[in-house]
Amino acid sequence: QDPRIAKISSAIRVIPNFPKPGIMFQDITTLLLDTKAFRDTIDLFVERYRGKDISVVAGVEARGFIFGPPIALAIGAKFVPMRKPNKLPGEVISEEYSLEYGTDKMEMHVGAVQAGERALIIDDLIATGGTLVAAIRLLERVGVHVVECACVIELPELKGRERLGDKPLFVLVSST
Ligand code: PRP
Ligand code: MG
Repeated sequence: QDPRIAKISSAIRVIPNFPKPGIMFQDITTLLLDTKAFRDTIDLFVERYRGKDISVVAGVEARGFIFGPPIALAIGAKFVPMRKPNKLPGEVISEEYSLEYGTDKMEMHVGAVQAGERALIIDDLIATGGTLVAAIRLLERVGVHVVECACVIELPELKGRERLGDKPLFVLVSST
């Protein structure tokens, strides 16, 4: 394993029982305070995706907006925000997805991407995988090829990776 991973892992703070009892919250704000670990996080993704002919980095609100843009700039791709409903001012396409209780929607601007483009989807964490599935659908509906999804953290017990089917998932840290 890359020696940078252990420091990234230890820079992520785990807060028990937030936002509710039984949840071990993976807090990436402490990773952002560690300038070396934050830079290494971005570098590890850039090293993997540079030269892969990716023209779109799609970041999932909110924490995909932190990691996505520096990766996009470094690999020479545009950044496309995948937002919570009713935030984007232009024409959107939207995709409903299920949460633990009820459903939510994710939206993307029509015209931000073109059919045939190659995209990378970035978020901070995959839990059940529902969020990433919605992001994949949004891009694929308009003919974009999703090369891979990438997250800083995976919670493997929630089996989100299985929900992605054969779509590749790359993560830096697995948290048990
Ligand atoms: C968290 C996390 C991922 C998502 C993963 O976001 O940042 O985006 O949950 O969960 P899943 O794999 O079960 O779908 P959250 O919805 O809490 O919103 P936020 O990023 O805006 O805080
Ligand atoms: Mg999120």
